[in-house]
Amino acid sequence: MRSIIEDELMSSTVIKNPNALDFDYVPDELIHRDEQQKMLAQMFKPLLSNVSQNAIIKGPVGTGKTLIAKKFCSTLVNIARKQGKTIEYVHINCRKRSTDSMALLGVINHFDQRFPDRGFSLQEMLQVLKKQLVKRNAQLLLVLDEADALLKKSGTNLIYNLTRFSDEKVLEKTPLSLILISQKDILPFFDVASISTFKRNNILKLDKYTRDELYDIVLQRVNLAFHNATVDPESIELLADISSEWGDARFAIELLWKSGIAADNQHIQNVKPEHVRAAKAETYSVVTETKLKNLEKHQLLTLYAIAKRLKKDETAYVNTGDAEKTYMLTCEEYNEKPRTHTMFWSYLKDIEGAGFINIKPSGKGTLGTTQLISLPDIPAEIMIDKVKEILK
Ligand SMILES: Nc1ncnc2c1ncn2[C@@H]1O[C@H](COP(=O)(O)OP(=O)(O)OP(=O)(O)O)[C@@H](O)[C@H]1O
Ligand SMILES: [Mg+2]
Repeated sequence: MRSIIEDELMSSTVIKNPNALDFDYVPDELIHRDEQQKMLAQMFKPLLSNVSQNAIIKGPVGTGKTLIAKKFCSTLVNIARKQGKTIEYVHINCRKRSTDSMALLGVINHFDQRFPDRGFSLQEMLQVLKKQLVKRNAQLLLVLDEADALLKKSGTNLIYNLTRFSDEKVLEKTPLSLILISQKDILPFFDVASISTFKRNNILKLDKYTRDELYDIVLQRVNLAFHNATVDPESIELLADISSEWGDARFAIELLWKSGIAADNQHIQNVKPEHVRAAKAETYSVVTETKLKNLEKHQLLTLYAIAKRLKKDETAYVNTGDAEKTYMLTCEEYNEKPRTHTMFWSYLKDIEGAGFINIKPSGKGTLGTTQLISLPDIPAEIMIDKVKEILK
């Protein structure tokens, strides 16, 4: 007789290739990003003639920034190779490596796994990197992903040094190109002189995906990862509807994956809308948390104030005037100086952009700019707890 454990382990699954649902997986085809790939190719064409380029990719969470960079850079490396040129592509996640030396060490480790992780100054490490490139007669294509984390923690020093790298004569044949990726606008971190190295036309902006684009992205993953005809067509529609609220492909794919698990757990060979709903309920709290961690302190205080007010008043909406009053009280509570009215409005816009609140005109007209704020998805009480936790 088989054990319960064995039964469960050996039971059939709707997922034929879980790997294709992994966030690091790079599908052969990028959906609805043709124009953007073309723009990158135009920006970086000079690399094939050994001329370095710097660029910024920016856009909200899950809009394909990391994916497009990976896809583009590895394609470029292959094409250069066919022309007999060596481009070394290194992708560093600056949230994981948020100091100058950790980020640079990550680059050096690409060439030398055993390079000691301490004992060298930044300048010495830059020299080591130069030598490696000269030795290989290679140029470096360096992606600093989530670059805002590095800039916030360590400033512009490393990036400044790296952009200077190619200026020196010895390196004529081994230039260094940078792609900085960030959700937030990172130009304010740089001084005017450095900003000019990121020319206006070297900034690629990715927008949130529309509902129909998300539908196509989900459909691609269904075909890559699921057994034939195991995902109900209506489930795909529902996945697109739900994730369109965020415009976030990662959320859509995670929801698809969890829907598959939900079907598997019931030993059903068909992912139904009910499985999608179950996955949504489970995913929401996790996603909200990660997204909240991306907010700045005063954005959090603003969101906290709105949730508190909605709970206290037991209403669907709070008007912007009342929200601002509660925000000021909340700041007091946290010993923070309340920011100006204009800043408060920009926080409202930010957290609306991040999908936490909806803002609509009050409709009454008499109050000038007064608008109504609501929390579309998550009970005020849960929001209060989560924000409080992060503010601690
Ligand atoms: N156009 C696309 N076609 C197919 N899959 C996509 C597309 N865009 C994003 N994805 C998938 O969605 C997920 C999120 O994409 P990615 O990691 O590139 O987002 P991001 O913009 O870097 O997000 P973050 O700001 O959180 O780092 C990944 O699994 C990626 O493969
Ligand atoms: Mg990313």
